[in-house]
This record gives sequence, C-alpha cells and structure tokens, in this order.
Amino acid sequence: MKKENLKIICDQIAACKSCKLHETRNKTVPGEGDVNAKVMLIGEGPGAEEDQEGRPFVGRAGKLLEKILNSAGFKREDVFITNIVKCRPPNNRNPEQKEMKACSKFIDAQIAIINPKIIVTVGSISTKALISDLIGSDGITKLRGRIFDWRGIKVVPILHPSYLLRNPSVEEGKPKWHTWKDMLMIKELINKP
Ligand code: URA
Ligand code: URA
Repeated sequence: MKKENLKIICDQIAACKSCKLHETRNKTVPGEGDVNAKVMLIGEGPGAEEDQEGRPFVGRAGKLLEKILNSAGFKREDVFITNIVKCRPPNNRNPEQKEMKACSKFIDAQIAIINPKIIVTVGSISTKALISDLIGSDGITKLRGRIFDWRGIKVVPILHPSYLLRNPSVEEGKPKWHTWKDMLMIKELINKP
C-alpha cells in the first residue's frame, strides 16, 4: 500500500507545474529508497546530475553522503532519500520560499506515507524549511546533531555534504568529524526501542 501511495505522489510530481522550476527542469527528482525506511534524509534540491538522472544525491555530494551513511552502518537502499524541492533550481541557486511552499505538499505526503522514525535534514535549507518554528535564529552549525520533535517524529539536522567537500579535514572538531559523530548518534537512536 505504501508503495502504491508513493507512486501516486511520484506521478503528481512528474506532472507538477505549481512553480516556475518546471520550466527549466529536465527530470523531476521525487526521491527513492525503502518505503519502510526508519530513516528519511531530506536535502535541498536536485543539482545538475540529479536533474539528468531523475534521482536524488547521485553527484559528488551524493557519493559523499553515501559514504557517510555506510560508515555508520546504513545502506543507501535501506533509507529513503529525497529533497525539499523536486525540480532543479537553475544554476544550483537556493530554492525560493514560494517554490518550497509550492512543493511542500509532496514532502508532507511522503513523510506521512513512509512515517520514518527519524528525519535527517541535510544542510541548512531543508532544516529551515522543515522546522523553522523550532530553531529560532540558530544556524546549521549550532543545529546539527541536535534532536528536534516535529509532529512526533525525531528530526536531526546534519551538515550538507557539499559543505563537507569544501571542508575535507577529518580532524577532531571539524565539520566532517561532527558529521560522522552525528550519523553514529542517529544509528543509535534507530536501534533504541
Ligand atoms: N544536493 C541536495 O541537496 N540534493 C541532491 O539531491 C543533490 C545535491
Ligand atoms: N551551509 C549549508 O547550507 N549547509 C551546511 O551544512 C553548512 C553551510
């Protein structure tokens, strides 16, 4: 049933013209993964490679995200990965408020269908988009690794892998080190009853 319901959302995304991003997209990127996933990752929006393939996080940042997942014992196939907006913003600009608003019905529906135990917001854009009313004016470096409650689901923000590509040091206290620790904490949360 979950699978059929997700497919309906997928078809609606493919036909969506609710914002101007549909004019410049190549493919819609609805998201993919296990319909029964306990962990759902939400990024910002498709980049060039994602727009070509119609799949989320398949470019350089995606490969790093997959490594981070694997290092904590997750397989990419076992989680569900999607984005706040399902069409690529031209030149990788940030999605606009009205684009995120137009697209929010899809992420709401996907969360409701999958009903994950934990949502991991990847980077500051999706964190703000999902839990803006819980975070005040704190930036992502203060929000990452903290646990928020959103409609009964735990939300844990992490740093965006694009940011980690620009800050590759794995030294203690650096962004990558924090992200690895955050993923291990997420893994522990999942294993808790
Ligand atoms: N960055 C994102 O936020 N999402 C993707 O799908 C790819 C890169
Ligand atoms: N800016 C972002 O959008 N995300 C990060 O993780 C760090 C800086």
